[in-house]
This record gives sequence, structure tokens and C-alpha cells, in this order.
Amino acid sequence: MNGDGKSVKRTAEVTYRRAEEADLPRAFAVFRAALNAYLVRAGQEAVPDDDEQSPSYRHFLEHDGERFWVAEADTDEFTGGHADPTRAGGREIVGWGCGLLRGDWWFLSSLFVLPEAQGIGVGARLFELAGTGAPAEAVRATITDSLQPISNTLYARRGLLPREVVVGFGGRPREGLRRPRLGSLEPGPLTPAAIPELREIDAAAGGVDRGVDHAFYLTSGRRGWLFRRRGRAVAYLMTRGDGWIGPAASVRAADIEPVVAFGVAALARHGPIEKVRAGVTGRCEGAQRALWEAGLVFDGTPGLLLSSRLFGRLDRYVPASYGMF
Ligand SMILES: CC(C)(COP(=O)(O)OP(=O)(O)OC[C@H]1O[C@@H](n2cnc3c(N)ncnc32)[C@H](O)[C@@H]1OP(=O)(O)O)[C@@H](O)C(=O)NCCC(=O)NCCS
Repeated sequence: MNGDGKSVKRTAEVTYRRAEEADLPRAFAVFRAALNAYLVRAGQEAVPDDDEQSPSYRHFLEHDGERFWVAEADTDEFTGGHADPTRAGGREIVGWGCGLLRGDWWFLSSLFVLPEAQGIGVGARLFELAGTGAPAEAVRATITDSLQPISNTLYARRGLLPREVVVGFGGRPREGLRRPRLGSLEPGPLTPAAIPELREIDAAAGGVDRGVDHAFYLTSGRRGWLFRRRGRAVAYLMTRGDGWIGPAASVRAADIEPVVAFGVAALARHGPIEKVRAGVTGRCEGAQRALWEAGLVFDGTPGLLLSSRLFGRLDRYVPASYGMF
């Protein structure tokens, strides 16, 4: 450090390589530091210390390792060596990014740069690397926080324009919530054996093949239901033990409301739950109605769905998470 922090930062040597299993704890630390630096300042809920991300990071490594990159630098160059007296110095991960590729649909899952390493081109380079292997004609999409002008500008300047609001719902379901009327929909437990049927529903609901992701969701703690009508699989829904609802999809837009209402009632019936949560696009009116009806409220600032062009039938889909859509 030469007394002019900025000029040192500008010359910091940043190198890029593909992520490995051993990088995952540090990737979580960078994720948390990058988010909390602006969330806390804005009075939003901070990302907790517990690393609940590693299972998804492992899934990315397994299926999208080609698009999972880390940026390394000598962090002393950013901090003057005073940030962490317990560290002996040396190169560390200062940012990382990962994109998912499912056929001709590419989704930027993650892009995070340590606050002290921001503004010198690391995010822009990682964005490019996260697109490795994506066909030129692929739809490119991501979900951002509407509170974050830097990421939204970065993506929009690269052709991913805001298309939809993604409203975060949260809250304790109201007392006495009853299982909704399902009409001719018949729910049954969802197991990995039903993945071919889920892929058919996805083909009708959005056109993106999420088979490998469904296998991940169903083997990493999500509970699920498959809904049939006269024997034919027409909708699915998954929930997490922490109260998150999604993914959910239906062949007909009209079915998403009872399906999501069923999910909230199932979570509430399962035991006392502090908070049920979901991220729903503005287009998915049915899911919104079900969540309003259940007594939930808006939770945090809305997200934005950005994409290079319109895709999917969003009126019948509830995302699995902000990081995986
Ligand atoms: C968004 C983020 C990844 C960008 O990384 P970064 O390394 O700071 O970005 P870069 O230095 O490569 O700059 C990227 C673009 O943002 C612009 N930018 C960077 N810092 C900026 C600032 N403080 N104000 C306005 N624009 C800024 C740059 O001009 C650049 O634009 P261009 O390449 O189109 O000319 C980083 O800010 C971050 O981790 N933020 C917190 C977490 C987050 O929001 N992640 C996105 C999840 S969707």
C-alpha cells in the first residue's frame, strides 16, 4: 500500500481459474461479505453466518463446473495487510461467479465480489466466464435485487434487460388455514422416479429442461407433491423445511393457485413454522393470490428477472430459489 488505496487496487493482479470443492467455504464467505456490505447499510436482513449454500455450490460444480469460476488476488493489495491480523497473507478468492446451462437457457446463478475488490473489472470478467459454453442463441437470464444498481447496470449493458418483478413473500400463515379445494387435482408424494413427468410439465410450463435440478432438489431435503388429473401429471410443488415454497409449476395457469395454496397449508400443518417464504414473478397471479390469501406479506425489496429475451410461461411457474430460478 502506498497511501493511495485506489491506485494500489487498480494495479492488483487478479487471476481466474475454475472453482474446486476446497473453494466452497471461501465462496460462501465472499457471498456473505458482498451481500451484507449493501444489505445491512440499506436496513435489510443480513445473510446469517451459517453456510447453507454448500449443497447447491456442489451441485453447480457437478453440472456446471465449466461455468463456475473464482477470481484470486493478494488481498493485502486491497487492504494494506491490516484487514485480518491472523492471516499470513497470500492469494485468496476475492470473487466468484457461476452460470447454469440447461439446453438453450443460460442462467447467471451467482456473481459476488468482495467489497474491497469491487470496481476494478472483476465482476465483468467473471460474468463473461460464467457464460462459458453457452450457445450464442441461448436465452440469458438472471435474478437481481432491485436495490442494487451496480449489478442491474452491469447485466443490462450486456443485454439482460429487466422483464419482470420477483416479489418476495414472507410471514406466518394465518391461523386456521385449511387445505384448499383441489377440484379434480389429486396430490401424491413426489419422488425422483417422477422426474420424467416433471420434465413434461416443465416443457409445457416454460420449456426449460430442469431434470438434473429436480434430482438435486429431491435429494437435498425438499419435500414434493405431484398433482394428477385423471391419471395425467399436470403440476408439481416442492417445499423446504425452512418454509420456502418452490419450485412449483403447472401445465395450466389456473392450477398454480390451488397448488401453491396446498403447499402453504402443508407447511403449516406439518408443525409450527416461523416463516413461509417464496419468490413469485409479477406474472404469476395465481401464486400471488394463494400467498395473499394465506396471510403472507411482502418481505424485503423485490427482485428483478432480467433476460436477453422473453422466455417461459411465467404465469404458471414459481422459482426454486433466486439463485437457480
Ligand atoms: C455486482 C458486482 C458483482 C459487480 O462486481 P465488480 O467487480 O464491482 O464489477 P466491475 O468492476 O467489473 O464493474 C462492472 C460494471 O459496474 C460498474 N460499476 C462498478 N462499480 C460501480 C459503482 N460503484 N457505481 C456504479 N457502477 C459501478 C462498472 O463501471 C462496470 O460497468 P461496465 O463494465 O459496463 O463499464 C459486485 O458489485 C458485488 O458483488 N455486489 C454485491 C453482490 C451482488 O449484488 N451481486 C449480484 C448478484 S445478482
